[in-house]
Amino acid sequence: MHFASDNTAPVAPEIMAALAAANQGYATSYGDDQIMDRVRDQIRALFEAPNAAVYLVATGTAANALSLACHINPWQAVFCHRLSHAEVDECGAPEFFTNGAKLVVLDGENAKINPDNLRAALASIDATDPHVIQRGILTITQLTERGTAYSLNEIHALTTIARDDNMPSHLDGARFANALVHLGCTPAEMTWKSGIDVVSFGGTKNGLMGVEAVIMFNPDQAWEFELRRKRAGHLLSKHRFLSAQMGAYLTDNLWLDLAKRANDAAARLETALLSLPDTTLEFPRQGNMIFARFPRTAHRFAKAAGAEYDLYFGQSMQGPDHELLGARMVTSWSTSQRDIDGFVAILRG
Ligand SMILES: Cc1ncc(COP(=O)(O)O)c(C=O)c1O
Repeated sequence: MHFASDNTAPVAPEIMAALAAANQGYATSYGDDQIMDRVRDQIRALFEAPNAAVYLVATGTAANALSLACHINPWQAVFCHRLSHAEVDECGAPEFFTNGAKLVVLDGENAKINPDNLRAALASIDATDPHVIQRGILTITQLTERGTAYSLNEIHALTTIARDDNMPSHLDGARFANALVHLGCTPAEMTWKSGIDVVSFGGTKNGLMGVEAVIMFNPDQAWEFELRRKRAGHLLSKHRFLSAQMGAYLTDNLWLDLAKRANDAAARLETALLSLPDTTLEFPRQGNMIFARFPRTAHRFAKAAGAEYDLYFGQSMQGPDHELLGARMVTSWSTSQRDIDGFVAILRG
C-alpha cells in the first residue's frame, strides 16, 4: 500500500530494457550520443516545435532552476504560487541558480495562481524605480502541488498577462503526463499554444529512473542553458543513459500509457475513499494525487497495517478518534488494484 509518492514507484520495465540495450559498447559522452539525436527529434515532433531546444537533466529541481535562470536577471522576480515546488521544496535552488532573483509568491484556489493576483503583483512594480525588484518570469505547475490541473484557458490567461508585461512563462511539468491525460489535449496545446515558453517535461514520477527534459520553444537561450547545465554539474558524462530512458518513454506512447495507469488508479482510489463514512476530498482530483480527510481512527488502522502516505504537515496521530486528518496520497503506473482494495478495507476497520 504505497501511496507516499510516485517517486517511490519502481522504474517501468520498458525503461529498464532500454537502459540495458543502451549499455552495449561505446557511445559519445556529454549529450552527443546518437540516442539523444533521436530524442531531440521525438520531442520536437511530439510538441510540434521543430526549432525547440531540448536538453536532459536528472532532476526536476535542476530542470526548473536552470530554466528560470536562463530567462531572468538577478534583480528580477519569479512569480510563482505560494505552494509551488520552486518556493517550498527546492531549498532555494531557483534563488541560487538565478544568482539571487526574488521569488514572489501568489495565491489562488486549488494551488493555481489567480490571474487577478498576478495582474496586481505586476501592476505594483515600477519599472523605472531602481529600489524595487523588476518583473522577470512566471512559473506555473501542471499538475499543481495539490493535484489539480490548469485548464488550457487558465494557462492562456496567465501567460497573456505575463506576455503583456514582456515576461516569459515557464511550466513545471514534473507531472506533465498526468495533467495532459486528464485534459485530453496535445503537448503543444498545453504549452506553446497556451503561451508557455519553456517547460520542465517530467519523466521521473512517471516511470523513469531519473530524467526530466527542458524544452525551450524559443532557442535563443539554448547556449546559455548548456553553459549553466555544465556549471551546475548537471551535464552527465554517461548521458546516453538519460537519452535511452527518454527515448523509450516517448516510444509507442509509453509515457501516456504510464500516466493513464496512474490516473486510473487514483480515480479508483478516490471512488473507494468516498464510499467511506466521513471522508471528503480537499481538492478536485485531476490526475494521480488525492488529498482527502478522514477520521483519525481510520488513519490509525492504516498506519498500523503499514500503509504509506503522508499526513498534512503539523497533524498528529495523537488526539480524538473522530477528528478528521488530511492525507496526501499519490498513485503511480505500478499501483495495483490489490493495493487499493487492501487499503480501503483497512480504513473500514
Ligand atoms: C511539482 C514538482 N516540481 C518539481 C519536482 C522536482 O523534483 P526533484 O528535484 O526531486 O526531481 C517535484 C518533485 O517532487 C515536484 O513535485
